[in-house]
Amino acid sequence: MSDFTSNITLSKYELVFIYDNKQIAQWLNSANYSSIFVLADNNTRKHCLPLLELPQNTTIIEIPEGEKHKNLNTCIQIWDTLLNHKADRKSLLINLGGGVVSDMGGFCAATFKRGIDFINIPTTLLAMTDATIGGKTGIDFNNTKNIIGAFASPVRVFVNTLFLKTLDKRHFTSGKAEMYKHALIALPQHAATVLNLEQNDTATLHKALTESLNIKKQITESDLYEQNVRKYLNFGHTIGHAIESFYLETNTPLLHGEAVILGMIGELWLSHTLLGFSEAAMDMHVKNLLSIFRKPLKIREHSDEILAYMANDKKNQTDSIRFVLLAQPGKPEFDIEVSKSDIEQALDYLEKMLS
Ligand SMILES: NC(=O)c1ccc[n+]([C@@H]2O[C@H](COP(=O)([O-])OP(=O)(O)OC[C@H]3O[C@@H](n4cnc5c(N)ncnc54)[C@H](O)[C@@H]3O)[C@@H](O)[C@H]2O)c1
Ligand SMILES: [Zn+2]
Repeated sequence: MSDFTSNITLSKYELVFIYDNKQIAQWLNSANYSSIFVLADNNTRKHCLPLLELPQNTTIIEIPEGEKHKNLNTCIQIWDTLLNHKADRKSLLINLGGGVVSDMGGFCAATFKRGIDFINIPTTLLAMTDATIGGKTGIDFNNTKNIIGAFASPVRVFVNTLFLKTLDKRHFTSGKAEMYKHALIALPQHAATVLNLEQNDTATLHKALTESLNIKKQITESDLYEQNVRKYLNFGHTIGHAIESFYLETNTPLLHGEAVILGMIGELWLSHTLLGFSEAAMDMHVKNLLSIFRKPLKIREHSDEILAYMANDKKNQTDSIRFVLLAQPGKPEFDIEVSKSDIEQALDYLEKMLS
């Protein structure tokens, strides 16, 4: 198997696929940093850190896992450790973990001494496919996700799918959801591969991630500030994000990717009803999505609350709800205004499909 397969060169950094973590050690040796810090949560410290070879004087910063710790208090812990261990402008922070670690670590690095270098080593499928491109870093504040942050790029991203072996299945499926979205908006023939991905199949994972990341790269780099085509990446997220926010308040929260699967099902129905997306294609993609996540949920009786979350969503400029919908597989359109009654019917359809 070749060492460097299909790396992705972005305007500011390179995303390198590796099969052997020795390549990270080699890169660190040649990079000449004054000190090295690794940010890991308790899970990635246990499962992923032992797979790395790091210089002896590396400082480990361990934080508690989960979105609820993606906040200012944890940043203070990170900045404190950097200061106490005399990090300077030539220090490097390695973010070893999922999107929570890379978002928060990137933000802490971007703001410490007005910016030190950081690299990302994503360890979840979601982070590999979604959080590695786009330069978004940040934390949650006052119950609002990602509301404090900065655009900042890592100096390099190393993607090694070997890390995925210890990830739990729910989080693996959550990552598949974003990859399926990439396929639906740009490369529909890629959808079947995404559906059948397995955690142990490193070679297929690398290949599928390359396709997915190239889609995100093309879209992101042609619209850095989310004025137009970058909106395509929000497919499934208008309904999905609202359902995710609603269930976050309950004792049975959904993972982001699970909510995006539900969002894509509802938005496929809207695409069929409003933009003429074919019924046969809708049926096939809905069946595919249900094959990876299906849970009977009472969505319709909470439609008022779910609609209220949609109206508050930062993606909507006025009180009308705008969607990214598909005219055909691979042919998205943005800023499609959808009425409340059509959204309610989409939620009806979704509930029926889940039952
Ligand atoms: N910056 C971006 O462009 C971007 C894009 C998408 C998502 N995000 C952010 O990413 C976050 C979600 O990412 P996530 O799903 O990776 O969440 P996460 O970082 O919370 O990881 C999910 C869980 O898996 C555990 N874990 C991670 N890697 C593991 C491994 N290899 N083995 C065993 N356990 C492991 C973690 O400890 C955690 O419990 C959200 O905060 C979201 O806002 C950012
Ligand atoms: Zn998403």
